[in-house]
Amino acid sequence: MAATLALPKGYGPRIAEALERSPRIPVIWLEGQDCAGNTEAFLRASHPTVAELLLEILSVDYHETLMAAAGADAERARIETMDRFPNGYVAVVEGAIPIADGGIYCVIGGRSFREIATEVCSGALAVIAVGSCAFDGGLPAAAGGPTGAVGIGQLVRGVPVINLPGCPMNVQNLTATIVHYLTFGTWPAVDSRGRPLFAYGQLIHDQCERRAHFEHGEFVLAWGDEGHRKGWCLYKLGCKGPATFANCPTVRFNDRTSWPVKVGHGCIGCTMPAFWDQMSPFYRRLPAPPPFPSDVTVDEVGTALVGLVGGLAAVHAVGSIIRKRRAGRVVAAATEGRTPESASEATGPEGAEGVAGGEAEGRAAGIAGSPKGEPEPTMDTDPDESGGGGKAGGAR
Ligand code: SF4
Ligand code: F3S
Repeated sequence: MAATLALPKGYGPRIAEALERSPRIPVIWLEGQDCAGNTEAFLRASHPTVAELLLEILSVDYHETLMAAAGADAERARIETMDRFPNGYVAVVEGAIPIADGGIYCVIGGRSFREIATEVCSGALAVIAVGSCAFDGGLPAAAGGPTGAVGIGQLVRGVPVINLPGCPMNVQNLTATIVHYLTFGTWPAVDSRGRPLFAYGQLIHDQCERRAHFEHGEFVLAWGDEGHRKGWCLYKLGCKGPATFANCPTVRFNDRTSWPVKVGHGCIGCTMPAFWDQMSPFYRRLPAPPPFPSDVTVDEVGTALVGLVGGLAAVHAVGSIIRKRRAGRVVAAATEGRTPESASEATGPEGAEGVAGGEAEGRAAGIAGSPKGEPEPTMDTDPDESGGGGKAGGAR
């Protein structure tokens, strides 16, 4: 736990003492629009084990998938916990909350999940959103989803909300978040999206065991090729590690045995906002690695993007005005019997400005947009050519 929380080893005894003397913390675990993947992750906890979590650290009083009770008995367990521990239980939320059409897309015991989640979370000590769906709507909120799915942080006010995105979240990060509270009496420091910095403060790319291959221009070019068998960098097959903040390479999964890149598949950026839309196509390479210097934080990236988007909005507005004025001139020229070309030629510097504005807008849209908004990357553009890490010579 000390290692996961990025604390010095000497904190081990303090954490152990805190866990021994703390009463078990009551937990109400809600599931909305979910696949139960985070419950599956919870059941694979190893340091501590799920048995230690359930019997010594937590008191999971309500969990639809794990509890023996069902129906009215289950509902009663949830209500009793809320009554016995006002502002004293942790609400763990798994899955998105559909708010379209009065919340009819997820109804439990005759009540909308939106109503239940708001009621439970409003009276909690803190809310922990596990997985990307509870973070920002996840898969149900991806383009085309009709249910109006949102994350719990978009609904609840006045209660601390700690977000643990991932598909699924890493259970080590859930345990560490609770252990931090039991040991220090405070929730861990978070970024502007409510993600604990101990878990989401560093780029995957900066912690990756394949990074040396990236630096040396050694890339996997096809599944099963020589580079793949040798464990080279997966950037050219779409790895989103250079744009993803998470501690997967160090904390790993399944009793710390492995993580996606270690088994030979690129990161798909599952801890990032709206990743189903923003990080897909998953097998298309990022346009220019790495997009951020190695010592940048996730909030600095966010601030830079906000500034960039603001600048782009201004460019877009200028471009729109110019387009409208040019359209107006074309109409005027047609009315006067001149050709649009001659009308354009007559505009002088203003016409040139319009062209420049249009180009800037096009370039900016490519830069600011998701990978989807980027021009189609070509396989003959190497990171070393585009200013990234690799040495001359690029892919082998
Ligand atoms: Fe690792 Fe992916 Fe970065 Fe390559 S691109 S070093 S596989 S995180
Ligand atoms: Fe997700 Fe990438 Fe980690 S896909 S599990 S953030 S390695």
